[in-house]
Amino acid sequence: MKSRIQSDSLSLRASKVIPGGTYGHVSPATNLPRDFAHFCNKASGVTFEDVDGNEWIDFMCAYGAVLHGYQNEEIENAVNEQRKYGSVFNHPHEVTVALAEKLIEIIDFASWAVFAKNGSDLTTWSIRVAREYTNRPLIVKAKGAYHGVDAWCDPGLGGRIESDRADIIEFEWNDLNQLEDIFQNNTDQVAGVILTPYHHAAFAPSVMPKEDFWLNVREICSSNGSLLILDDVRTGWRLHEGGSHRHFDFAPDLSVYSKALGNGYAISACVGIDELKNAASDVFLTGSCWNDAVAMRAALTSLSICQSKRVAESVMAKGRFFCDELEKLSSEFNFKLQMTGPASMPYPWFEGDENLYQIQKFCKLASKQGLFFHPHHNWFISDAHDQQSIEQSLNLARKAFEEM
Ligand SMILES: Cc1ncc(COP(=O)(O)O)c(C=O)c1O
Repeated sequence: MKSRIQSDSLSLRASKVIPGGTYGHVSPATNLPRDFAHFCNKASGVTFEDVDGNEWIDFMCAYGAVLHGYQNEEIENAVNEQRKYGSVFNHPHEVTVALAEKLIEIIDFASWAVFAKNGSDLTTWSIRVAREYTNRPLIVKAKGAYHGVDAWCDPGLGGRIESDRADIIEFEWNDLNQLEDIFQNNTDQVAGVILTPYHHAAFAPSVMPKEDFWLNVREICSSNGSLLILDDVRTGWRLHEGGSHRHFDFAPDLSVYSKALGNGYAISACVGIDELKNAASDVFLTGSCWNDAVAMRAALTSLSICQSKRVAESVMAKGRFFCDELEKLSSEFNFKLQMTGPASMPYPWFEGDENLYQIQKFCKLASKQGLFFHPHHNWFISDAHDQQSIEQSLNLARKAFEEM
């Protein structure tokens, strides 16, 4: 049994001074049972140490924010170099322009970029750009898709009023008839459609786009004068080094990135087509520490590594091996585990496990072995996962299956 003394004590302290103890995706409401780590001490590569000194092999990568492994040496060196000059100033640093240039070089359809701190900052900003450009009110999204914390799209119930979602219409992922109906019933009213590259809802297996989904979505948006916005916040740089639209072979009008972009340093970016540049400059965008040269230096270095080491391909191949082996292992024990979604960010699903009982049990047993597997959120592979750590994890997973 792992020690939990510090973790319990911190949880108690947190509950006194932080509403709910901790919040967001690590809140007790959506968080994991006591078997899992709840507070982190330090992390390096693919492992982290919790506040009680327990070591974990990590498959969540800070919920996707870490792509090259915790404390990647090249990124940390670049960040330390930048720190000698400072981080947040009155004005942007040269690195702001360099980062925009880099994104435009990498992302085929993009001719400009803006920056913020979180994915939500820019998914919300991007729909305002769509409204500004089209002079239309409606935004279409997929049911159950997460785009951030703002009232037009958040998954919670608190603090919302009806008008927050008055101009948001939802359709079932992959249902093109429903999407077409929305356009037919709202002629010249839809400013944009915002979608993730594939459907990665929490508490459910991931669903890939059906054949020609993207081709049709692109066509429907273009023929109706609406913008196609890609929310690549979670997926960016794990599917394709040029943005996830390349993986599925289509071109959006705007794309939003965050998570892996800064390898753990807070930064988000929105890129867009040239035609939207004027509208983009008319939609207000700012923030206390948004021109953060340190985070931008981290992102610039991260993107260079993505290119030089072909990281998207690498994490996909590592994930493929891991997912195939884990599925084989499960069938050895007569369980039907499917690793759904792309192999670089798989969502684990036991066939018929509608109440999530089996996956919760498996992840809990895996936690006893020091594996940080999440029972109801997709996992993330980083480029620091090497053959040795993956094989070690599979051996530990075998022990969890044995016990299960
Ligand atoms: C697809 C998607 N969009 C938007 C967001 C919001 O990003 P942030 O939490 O950085 O505001 C997230 C965060 O998990 C996400 O997964």
